[in-house]
Amino acid sequence: MPAGVDRAKLESAIASEERTFAARTTGSRVMFEESKQVLLGGVPISWMNKWVGGYPVFFARAKGSTITDVDGNSYIDFSLGDTGAMAGHSPEATADAVSERTRGSGGITTMLPNSDAAAVGRNLRERFGLEYWQFTLSATDSNRFALRLARQVTGRKKILVFSWCYHGTVDETFVTLVDGMTRSRAGNVGPAVDPSLTTVAVEFNDIEGVRKALAGGEIAAILTEPALTNIGIVLPEDGFLAAVGEAAREAGAVYILDETHTFSAGWGGAGSLFGVRPDMLTIGKSLGGGVPFGAYGLSADMARLVASQPDADYVDTGGIGGTLAGNALSLGAARATLEGVFTRDNFARMIALATRFREGVEAAIERHRLPWTVAQLGARTEYRFRSPQARNGAESAAGADDALDTYLHLFMMNRGVLMTPFHNMALMSPATTEDQVDSHTKFFDEACAAIAAR
Ligand SMILES: Cc1ncc(COP(=O)(O)O)c(C=O)c1O
Repeated sequence: MPAGVDRAKLESAIASEERTFAARTTGSRVMFEESKQVLLGGVPISWMNKWVGGYPVFFARAKGSTITDVDGNSYIDFSLGDTGAMAGHSPEATADAVSERTRGSGGITTMLPNSDAAAVGRNLRERFGLEYWQFTLSATDSNRFALRLARQVTGRKKILVFSWCYHGTVDETFVTLVDGMTRSRAGNVGPAVDPSLTTVAVEFNDIEGVRKALAGGEIAAILTEPALTNIGIVLPEDGFLAAVGEAAREAGAVYILDETHTFSAGWGGAGSLFGVRPDMLTIGKSLGGGVPFGAYGLSADMARLVASQPDADYVDTGGIGGTLAGNALSLGAARATLEGVFTRDNFARMIALATRFREGVEAAIERHRLPWTVAQLGARTEYRFRSPQARNGAESAAGADDALDTYLHLFMMNRGVLMTPFHNMALMSPATTEDQVDSHTKFFDEACAAIAAR
């Protein structure tokens, strides 16, 4: 029987870790105060205020799997820019391509294609199995454009997503299921319309819920990650993703898989791992090795449907595209990263490291009799303060614990380990080492020992 957490110990441990953090990061604190004079909230993007400790550490250098802050503290980086740096920081292949683009042949952005574009398209086709590709600057844009195309070809307005999903800043996706009703997600900033008008939410792994939502004939597209990754990792049950695809096809809805995070599952992403082929696939974040780049793929059938729309303005102001999308710098970086970093060998290494990480965490959870679990999706792992592992977003959300999040993040940072600021995700890059994984295991065990009830 798990013994659980001693809340009094947890509270005093947080206070002690906060003092240590403040003493180690005085330079970051000063820079944060200065930044507040000109940056809203003191940071370049509001998400950076998610870090615990009162302010984020300001970084001076980042290379491979290591970050050094302005106070000279060095960190093993398991956060990897919340997946944007899954290739490792400034990998050589990407850096060479960026340098060639900027200082070699030159030309960062034009309104012309070059040979990198088709090379990237071929690489993505080989990995993900979809025939045709378009490029964007972010996964958010890939999702927005995929949804527009799905509405265009089906003539329908609504989309289906899973409760507690996250697909970027896409208006239609900010919903959760509350007492069986689709509701705007708490804290949704300035929605143009109530998203329950545009969207139906269903719990992940609920195939009957999916069929019921499709039955009305209103759904243009189902947009989902192959495994939820933004409310902890919630894995699909056997056959769920294939059944969703079948239901979508029967109902004439477009099946879109968002592989932005689940690319961690392996060389061909989680769709190929779980044996499902969508009509469209969206991705971004890691593909450019840190340089902004996103992509979306279409099956040949979907491409034909898209092409057969006489009223759609694809080549000007119809609502698809972007001036800098498909720019030469992004494409050069993406080509180099896909061909030189995200290789089958590197995925095998990254996944082996994540397995080692998960096993270390599992052993500590068991040793300290904590009612927690750790999930793995290829190179990505995440611990969650509930057991057994969640089957859907609602169950996983119920396992959130802000005090434990704060404690574990601070404990790790004070010992030179960065976890992603959003819950407790750890990602392995090709540059991550076994020693770095073992350091985390040791610290995690110490962190558990300090707060476990006896
Ligand atoms: C699954 C998924 N899709 C899309 C996005 C959006 O990515 P970006 O913020 O780079 O546009 C995210 C961001 O976290 C994501 O997790």
